[in-house]
Amino acid sequence: LFARPWTFRMSVPSLEFLPPIGPLEIAFAGRSNVGKSSLINAVLGQRGIARTSNTPGRTQELNFFAPDDTLSIVDMPGYGYAEAPKALVARWNRLIEDYLRGRVSLRRVYVLIDSRHGLKANDLETLDRLDKTAVSYQIVLTKADKLKPGEIDRRVAETLKAVARRPAAHPVVLATSSETGEGIDLLRAEIAQIAP
Ligand code: GTP
Ligand code: MG
Repeated sequence: LFARPWTFRMSVPSLEFLPPIGPLEIAFAGRSNVGKSSLINAVLGQRGIARTSNTPGRTQELNFFAPDDTLSIVDMPGYGYAEAPKALVARWNRLIEDYLRGRVSLRRVYVLIDSRHGLKANDLETLDRLDKTAVSYQIVLTKADKLKPGEIDRRVAETLKAVARRPAAHPVVLATSSETGEGIDLLRAEIAQIAP
């Protein structure tokens, strides 16, 4: 799956522009700047296919990447970027919430959490929404290279404990780094299991 070339397919600014239901969709969600676009680049092995930035608010639309017409990976805008203009934040939140709630082809959401920070209030709101709509999700810790191995293990255990009783949560929490490649093969294997 990941040996194939993936291409950028489309950028969706609001829900009326979503493509018709067809390919299975796997979305990457999380707080602004958590590393969603970087992780997609690492998983696809194509540096720069998803645009990244040091400053939050880089990804502003739903960006679709695909290897063929059976599967898409969707890079999402981040939530929780308080400094962005209010109208923009409202538009992103609407897009994120509506897409995560109402898409029948959405098979899995990867909810990315910064290893250093752990689950924040707005992450928990996202998990609550996914649990309520029974959309399957898995937690992925990002930027694992920023922590010592012992600290990462503790963060994984703590996060696992926090989601253990949630109905739509995958029972494994992955620790990843887009910088070192840690955990990327495991994430690829998870995605390959969902792929048609
Ligand atoms: P938005 O689109 O703005 O919501 O951000 P995003 O979640 O897509 O984050 P992005 O991939 O643009 O990365 C944000 C910053 O974090 C960039 O400066 C990346 O270089 C950095 N970053 C991403 N992943 C890692 C990682 O695994 N390790 C380290 N050290 N830095 C990372
Ligand atoms: Mg991004």
